[in-house]
Amino acid sequence: MLVLDGRLAAGTGLPAERELARALNASRTMIAAALEQLRQAGFVASRRGSGSWITLPGKGMSTPVELEARSRMLDLAHAALPAPRELVAAVDAARAQLPAYLSDHGYHQRGLAVLRQRVARHYERRGLPTAQDQIVITSGAQHAFALVLMLLAGPGDRVVVEQPTYPNTLNAIRAARALPVPVAMTDEGWDLDALDAALRQSAPRLAFLQPDFQNPTGLRMDAGDRRRLVTVLRKNRVPAVIDETTVELDLEGDPLDGPPPTASYGDDAVISIGSASKAYWGGLRLGWIRSPLELVHRLVSARSAIDLGTPVFEQLVLAELLADPEPLLRRRRLEVVERRDALAAAIGEHCPGWTFRNPAGGLCLWCRLDAPVSTRIAVVAEHFGVRVAPGSSFAVYGGLERWLRLPYTQPVEALRDAAQRLSSALSAIGDAEHSSIVDDIIPVA
Ligand SMILES: Cc1ncc(COP(=O)(O)O)c(C=O)c1O
Repeated sequence: MLVLDGRLAAGTGLPAERELARALNASRTMIAAALEQLRQAGFVASRRGSGSWITLPGKGMSTPVELEARSRMLDLAHAALPAPRELVAAVDAARAQLPAYLSDHGYHQRGLAVLRQRVARHYERRGLPTAQDQIVITSGAQHAFALVLMLLAGPGDRVVVEQPTYPNTLNAIRAARALPVPVAMTDEGWDLDALDAALRQSAPRLAFLQPDFQNPTGLRMDAGDRRRLVTVLRKNRVPAVIDETTVELDLEGDPLDGPPPTASYGDDAVISIGSASKAYWGGLRLGWIRSPLELVHRLVSARSAIDLGTPVFEQLVLAELLADPEPLLRRRRLEVVERRDALAAAIGEHCPGWTFRNPAGGLCLWCRLDAPVSTRIAVVAEHFGVRVAPGSSFAVYGGLERWLRLPYTQPVEALRDAAQRLSSALSAIGDAEHSSIVDDIIPVA
């Protein structure tokens, strides 16, 4: 699972059998047998005198049919849409604005004033008074979170997260050598009593939550729970990063009529982060932080260790898109609703044992499988030309093998095709006894 998650890179050397046996408190016979099984499965290669190292299964075993499938690979591992058609016009308009920005040095550590103003207005329209000076423009929400982490959590510190959660959040926490502490989501949403207990017991420096169409579950926290959440955070004196990356993708209503931003219930306890990647385009690499002023100053000075600002031109492009975003967002939502419904119907038809709640927003179906085979499906699906992220990627310590995240960001035809390919992968697993693919790459126990 660590290999499939990308946590153990191909080529990583493994310790000697004796060392592994000691570290894992297992017999050498057991370690030798496990390594042999991993070798057979294609996850490990060994050479006498050079030891053992990690490999990726499937290398050198592709048949022509598989190669053909892979060349038409459908990527359901990324939950992000292509750029909207309005982007090109925004680029042209930004180009016309550019000369006014060329006469200074071009370093804007907080971001361009015009963009900060428009991001502040985005909060105002959602009912949260926001000064332009509370906004720092970043190179995406992922960068925003890494900056906050750098400031507020160090090696060994705990960071409470929802489980499941967005995998790159876990990567960022681990890269900061901090420790993610999971609090399980329920089928209905957030268990705030469990969160309270986790905050009390693990004394974290920070919590990371996504109350607005959580990735991957698509759940949204209601206003009452937002209020309670802030009370719980304050009581435990733990600030939370509230990631609102998908807030605009409300597929059932107007996000301006949705529950107020979490920060409305307590500006002191909440650092909000947002992104242009889901509603607009990931290729802009733009996001932002909205925080109390005192933290803005600290963030900006900490930032100078990493980067000295975000590219000016892209900021001008986003400022153009945010000047009058509603027509674009309305069209985007309609398009996403069509794709969500098409994927839901295709999964219902081709993988009828899988269940999911129709998400009211965001970009993913969070499917409950009828058996704990998510990682196996992810591996086998590659051979049928579809790439998916298994449930374990969304968990702190692996597991969630009964869950699979399926984004509906591709065109409708591609989604139907993907559902068919997933059903073929499922059959290959069902036929494990007889399937050469599965026998070759997955230890079937
Ligand atoms: C919850 C969440 N946070 C952050 C990100 C990363 O956003 P960005 O592209 O702005 O770095 C994503 C993208 O998938 C996401 O879903």
